[in-house]
Amino acid sequence: MTGTIRASGAKNAALPALAASLLASEPVELTRVPAVRDIRTMRHLLDHLGVRSEERGEALVLHPDGEPADGEAPYELVKTMRASVLSLGPLLARRGHARVSLPGGCSIGVRPIDQHLAGLAALGADVRLEGGYVEATGRLVGGRFRFEMPTVTGTENVLMAAVLADGVSVLENCAREPEVADLARLLVRMGARIEGVGGETLTVEGVSELGGARHEIIPDRIEGGTYLVGAALTGGDVILEGAEPADLAPLLEKLADAGARVEPGERRVRVRAGGGLISQDVETSPHPGFPTDLQAQFMALMTQARGVATLSETVFENRFQHVPELVRLGAAIEVKGHVAQVHGPTPLSGSPVMATDLRASACLVLAALAAEGESVVHRIYHLDRGYEDMEGKLQHLGASVERVSGPEPG
Ligand code: EPZ
Repeated sequence: MTGTIRASGAKNAALPALAASLLASEPVELTRVPAVRDIRTMRHLLDHLGVRSEERGEALVLHPDGEPADGEAPYELVKTMRASVLSLGPLLARRGHARVSLPGGCSIGVRPIDQHLAGLAALGADVRLEGGYVEATGRLVGGRFRFEMPTVTGTENVLMAAVLADGVSVLENCAREPEVADLARLLVRMGARIEGVGGETLTVEGVSELGGARHEIIPDRIEGGTYLVGAALTGGDVILEGAEPADLAPLLEKLADAGARVEPGERRVRVRAGGGLISQDVETSPHPGFPTDLQAQFMALMTQARGVATLSETVFENRFQHVPELVRLGAAIEVKGHVAQVHGPTPLSGSPVMATDLRASACLVLAALAAEGESVVHRIYHLDRGYEDMEGKLQHLGASVERVSGPEPG
């Protein structure tokens, strides 16, 4: 993979930003919203909740002036995208009640939302679970809450409730992912009063209402990181434009340690293959640690590195589903609990493989590009949730890849 591509806006920053429009009393204008399926799903949910959205040139404009169909986030919508749970906090804050289907688990884990609910209860909400739905009601008042663990959407949900609560809230052990800080900056632009943005303690002084805002979504560090791993894996040279090197720091450090040539610049990063890859151990952890969303992609890289790489997945309980598919391509990987050991380098040869979740799909595409011969990656609808025009970007980088439709295996 060789050439220059531009990072898309971050899906995991755009999703909470869209949900934040539920709080607004005027239109919210977002730019650099990625054209991916999860965004379309969120727009559909917002429409159902009375927030119309329209594309105006480069911007997505959200109009929170509509009448909600029934003011609830139904199971049919929530089950297709867990991030729908981000409607809970803002709906409760703006309307005094919310009824949102429980998201249910997904292939990478149970994905509970107990911290979301405990946080809302700490702000005075009456939270009940019945029939697979969360019912939250009440006038929110400022309160103090400490998350049991850093949770990205948990922090975002409770933050979006606190901004309209009556009084001051102190939220501790917050997630520090760049996407959380981006949401906080949007809320401040809408008139919210938030101190400590980017840190683990957020202090929020509630206001009576939030106006509109114009806001550019931050670049997607996971999408961008995926292509930079691809450069190192395929002996290539990729320049990622419109990126934020600081947000990619945990990955860039590991790529350099593994022997790639990493050159961060002004809103851009260049990664070139070095003279051979050396195995690196990785342990995923909440930001600023190594992102769990890049674990699968990095594992694909380690199949071509000399030595034994130990990858520990500490965030989710079942995020090694790409392992058997990598083994089918020729990788030598042993999994014991939440630790995978990758012995490399091993030659990879093309074969049919099956994607199981968004980031596993990306890992298999990268490994297939490094394999000898043709591979077919099945169920790439997972990819379409979070990667804008992946085949276009890969083809632009000289990869031989095409999207084919055809019978799914099994
Ligand atoms: C967000 O999911 C991302 N999704 C995920 O990206 C990402 O993998 C994850 O953060 C971790 O970085 C969006 O932002 C839309 P968590 P989220 O709450 O918020 C436990 C992708 O590929 N937990 O930070 O659901 C949970 O089980 C997706 O784009 C509780 O126990 O993740 C997990 O072990 C996949 N109770 C850990 O915390 C709770 O109430 C971190 O989960 C909440 C979380």
